[in-house]
Amino acid sequence: MNNLSVNTQAMLAALSIGLFVYYVIKRMRYRLPPGPWCIPLVGHYKIYSSVEMHKKVAELSKVYGPVVRLSFGTQTWIFLNNNDVVIEALIKKKADFAGRPKSPSTDVITAGGKDIALSTYSPTWKLHRKIAGKALRNYLQGTLLENMIQDNMDKFLNKMAQEKDPFKFKDYADLMVYHQLYTICFGQKRPIDDPEVKTLLELDEDLNTSLGTGFIEDLVPYLKDICPTAKWKNFVKVSHQLTKLISTKYRDHVDTYKSGVNRDFIDSLLAAKEEAENEGDESALEKLDDTRLIQTISDIFLAGVDTTRLTMDWFVYFMTRFPEIQTKCQEEIDSVVGARHPSMKDRNKLDYIEACLFESMRLGSVAGLGVPHMAICDSQVGGYDIPKGTTIFINHWALHNDPKFFKDPKKFDPYRYLDENGKKKPARPDSWLPFSAGSRVCLGEAVAKPEILLMCANLLQRFEIRLPDGERANPEYKQLGFGTELPSEYKVIVKDRVIN
Ligand code: HEM
Repeated sequence: MNNLSVNTQAMLAALSIGLFVYYVIKRMRYRLPPGPWCIPLVGHYKIYSSVEMHKKVAELSKVYGPVVRLSFGTQTWIFLNNNDVVIEALIKKKADFAGRPKSPSTDVITAGGKDIALSTYSPTWKLHRKIAGKALRNYLQGTLLENMIQDNMDKFLNKMAQEKDPFKFKDYADLMVYHQLYTICFGQKRPIDDPEVKTLLELDEDLNTSLGTGFIEDLVPYLKDICPTAKWKNFVKVSHQLTKLISTKYRDHVDTYKSGVNRDFIDSLLAAKEEAENEGDESALEKLDDTRLIQTISDIFLAGVDTTRLTMDWFVYFMTRFPEIQTKCQEEIDSVVGARHPSMKDRNKLDYIEACLFESMRLGSVAGLGVPHMAICDSQVGGYDIPKGTTIFINHWALHNDPKFFKDPKKFDPYRYLDENGKKKPARPDSWLPFSAGSRVCLGEAVAKPEILLMCANLLQRFEIRLPDGERANPEYKQLGFGTELPSEYKVIVKDRVIN
C-alpha cells in the first residue's frame, strides 16, 4: 500500500514536471512581448485589481514599449498602447485579433456567447452583426432619429427647466439615453417616470457596476460551482432578470409582427428572419434563433446605453468647466439652427460643437480599455509573437493621451479637430479611436455620433448650464474599472436662453 502511494506520488511529481517543461518549451517557441516580473499564478495582482489599470499599463508602456504583457492569474493579457500597434492588430492583421475571450461572467450575460459584442469571431457573429448593423442604419433614414430625439429631449428639457435647486445632470442623461434606446428597440415612447424603463436602468446599472470591477469567479472558475461570492450570485440573478424583461418584449413583437411594417429594431431583426425563411436559407435560419436575437437586443442596451450616457455626462461636465466654450457652442447653434429644432441636416454645419463632443470623448474615458479581443490564430504585433487564444486589450486611454498626437493631452481643446478657419478638418487625429477600428469597430458608431450631437445641441440651444454659485469645479474623476471613468459627482443649474 505504501509502495503504491510512493509510486503515485512519484508519478504525479513526474507529470507535474513534464507539464511544466512542456509549458516552458511551448512558451520558448514564441517571442512574447515584454512585461514586468510577477509571482507565477498570482500574476500582476496590484495592476489587475486596480481601477486605474489603464493608467498603470500606460506607465509600463514607457518602460516596456507599446506592447505590454501582464499575467492575470493563469491568463496572459496583452495591452496595445499606441496607434501603430493598434492599427497593425485591428486593421492590417484583419481578423487575427477579432476573437473575444470567454469567461464565466460573459457566459452568464450572453447565454453562453450568443450575443454580438462578447461572442467570438464566427459566421454566426458575422451574420448577426450584419443584420443588427442594417437595423440600426434604418434609424439614419429620413427624419426617424431626429424626431425620436426631439420627442425625448422636449420631455426631459421641460422637466429640467422646472428644477428649482441644483441637480445632478447625470440623472437626466441616464433617463434620456434609456428612453432613447427603449424607443429604438421596443418602438414605444414612455412617460418620464415609466417604471419599466426605471427597472431596465437599475438592472443595467447593477450589471455594469459588477462587470466593471470583475469577479474572482472569472479568475478561479470552479469557485462559482462550490462557493460563489454574494456578488456573483447577485450578478447571475440580475442578468436573468434583464434577459427575462427583454425576452418578454421580444415575444410581444413576435406575436404582433406584421410583414412589411417596421415598428422598431426588433421588427428589423424579425424581418431579417422572415427574409431567410422566404429564401429557404436554412443556414441563416439556424443562426437566427430566438436566444440569439434576444441577446442582440440585450447588446444594444449593454453596449449602447452606458457609453452614450457617460459621454453626455462628460460633455456637460466640460461645458460647465469652460463656460466660454459653452457660449461659443451656443453662438454656433444660434447661427446655424436658430430657434427651430436642430436636425440631421444641421449636423455638418455644427463643427465647433461636434469638435467639443469629440474632445469630450477623448478626455472622458468611457471605454478606456475597450472590449477585450482574442487572437484567433498565432499572429504578431509590434515585432512580438501573440499565440492563439491570447487576450488583447486596446488601451484607448493611452491612445487618447498620447502627446505625439495630442499636444498638451490634458487640455480640453476643440481646435484639435478644426482647421484655421474653424471648419472641421477632413480627418481626426489617427490616435482618436473611441469607437475602436477594424472588424470589431463599434456597431453603434454611425447612430451614436449624430444621436449624441443632436442631444447636446438641443440641450445647449435651450439652456445655459452652469455650476451652482460658489461651487468649485471638482477636478477628480471617478474610476469605475477597466478604463471607465466618469466625472466626480457634480450639480448644475440651468437657465432658459432667449434665442433670436
Ligand atoms: C459614445 C458612444 C459609444 C462608444 C464610445 C462606443 C465604444 C465602443 C467600443 C470601444 C467598442 C469595442 C470595439 C472593439 O472591440 O474593439 C464597442 C463595441 C460595440 N458597440 Fe459601441 N460605443 C458607443 C455607442 C454604442 C451604441 C449607441 C451602440 C448601439 C446602439 C453600440 C453598440 C456596440 C456593439 C453591438 C459593439 C460590439 C461590436 C462587436 O463586438 O462586433 N455602441 N463600442
